[in-house]
Amino acid sequence: MEDHISEMTLEDFEEVASVWEEAELWPHVGEDRDWFERALARNPTCALVWREEGKILGTVIGAWDGLRGWIYHLAVLKGRRNRGLGGALLAAAEVRLWELGVRQINLMVYEENGFAESFYLRRGYERSPVNVLRKGLPGADR
Ligand SMILES: CC(C)(COP(=O)(O)OP(=O)(O)OC[C@H]1O[C@@H](n2cnc3c(N)ncnc32)[C@H](O)[C@@H]1OP(=O)(O)O)[C@@H](O)C(=O)NCCC(=O)NCCS
Repeated sequence: MEDHISEMTLEDFEEVASVWEEAELWPHVGEDRDWFERALARNPTCALVWREEGKILGTVIGAWDGLRGWIYHLAVLKGRRNRGLGGALLAAAEVRLWELGVRQINLMVYEENGFAESFYLRRGYERSPVNVLRKGLPGADR
């Protein structure tokens, strides 16, 4: 299975974005091609795709901000779910983050996404007592 996992590249942007769109994870504020380039430049080993016969079926972005590891944009094409791809991508991103020195991973799940929350809970994640606050900076309404 791991043979299908490789690092995301800049050339993958359109295909990866369409996987995120189908999964309703994208677009988010500021997540354009420049954002994608910066994300890959900062996390070259932890942004991963699942590819079969040249087609991207799933994605995950592991990110290391120097303090904590984060998981973003775990998504699998609808027709390819429930075959272990999501779990394998998550596990691979965790290994890559661990190799960088990360010892705790955070991730955010929309309140209404109970399915994803239970998916993560079955994989060792715990609910945290922390609320996520946010603020748009100039340009956030673009
Ligand atoms: C979350 C997601 C990435 C999982 O991908 P996947 O390839 O299906 O993952 P896996 O095959 O490894 O695991 C799927 C699990 O869901 C379970 N499942 C599948 N369909 C189910 C259903 N209808 N009801 C309950 N459980 C179901 C499977 O049995 C499996 O259980 P397990 O956790 O005990 O292994 C995928 O559902 C997805 O892309 N969702 C939309 C995007 C999203 O919400 N991402 C998370 C953002 S925080």
